[in-house]
Amino acid sequence: MASPAAGVVVIVGSGLIGRSWAMLFASGGFRVKLYDIEQQQVTNALENIRKEMTFLEQSGSLKGSLGAQDQLSLISGCLNIQEAVEGALHIQECVPENLELKKKIFAQLDQIIDDQVVLSSSTSCLLPSQLFAGLAHVQQCLVAHPVNPPYYVPLVELVPHPETAPATVDRTHALMRKIGQSPVRVLKEMDGFVLNRLQYAVISEAWRLVEEGIVSPSDLDLVMSDGLGMRYAFIGPLETMHLNAEGMLSYCDRYSEGMKRVLKTFGPIPEFSGATVEKVNQAMCLKVPADPEHLAARRRWRDECLQRLAKLKRQMPSQ
Ligand code: NAI
Repeated sequence: MASPAAGVVVIVGSGLIGRSWAMLFASGGFRVKLYDIEQQQVTNALENIRKEMTFLEQSGSLKGSLGAQDQLSLISGCLNIQEAVEGALHIQECVPENLELKKKIFAQLDQIIDDQVVLSSSTSCLLPSQLFAGLAHVQQCLVAHPVNPPYYVPLVELVPHPETAPATVDRTHALMRKIGQSPVRVLKEMDGFVLNRLQYAVISEAWRLVEEGIVSPSDLDLVMSDGLGMRYAFIGPLETMHLNAEGMLSYCDRYSEGMKRVLKTFGPIPEFSGATVEKVNQAMCLKVPADPEHLAARRRWRDECLQRLAKLKRQMPSQ
């Protein structure tokens, strides 16, 4: 674990994801400067982080070796970008998902950063070649895409621009490990990166099965939450294959023909509209009405489940 003030990390944008990054970096002993254009956003973020960290400490889920008070003292708000980036080792951009806005901010940062700092974007789906094109410091740039809520779901996809220096990816990988996240290297940029491509593949077939009347929407979700998902919280699809036979070679030998036969029956990309969206929406709203209170309550329950799962995963290390 890093000692207090192990270095300065700047968060650009203090919304939902910026706050989570701030807490994660503070848990690793880093000094965090939380920059935003809105004073009120910074004030809200610091207050929200204070409440969240106090709750996490009380529930035994606070990350890192420092107490909540020590971690909080590492985080400060900032409204001056020039001051914020002074001496920073890592800048994590977390402004809204808008290509023009992000490009404007990277162009601004490009003018004021040194040759050492890593410039990282939290974007969910914008490609590094769009975000970092033409920057003088492009070798120091990459995407580090977190998963919501990042405090409980540790995966971070690291996606380089074609001109990103390998050392930039290595440094960011090490930094993510240091704050307890689980980084993966996406070796070449690809629309949707990896997580969303897998997610969309699952959503797509789920939709078709409901559309074709094979299964109800609520039973479809159960297949994941009480079936596949139970394993996937611990082992991925490839290791699942390896363990479901006498190793991978035996699995492919036994099951590849069956898999190909079934895969050939997959239909086209769904439209996600019309009668099927009505049907799925009705089923979802029966379970969780789509008003702010019910949705917020269900998200709180989901986050509590993830918090406990994260604890269990720490008790059951993979290696
Ligand atoms: P948000 O809307 O909650 O927060 C954005 C923050 O950026 C606000 O505090 C806003 O005041 C600030 N901001 C706007 N313009 C700015 C500027 N010029 N300079 C500095 N700050 C500025 O957004 P959220 O949800 O935190 O998303 C941030 C990024 O993280 C997006 O790229 C999003 O795609 C990505 N992301 C979001 C996930 C999610 O579930 N919300 C998951 C993974 C990634």
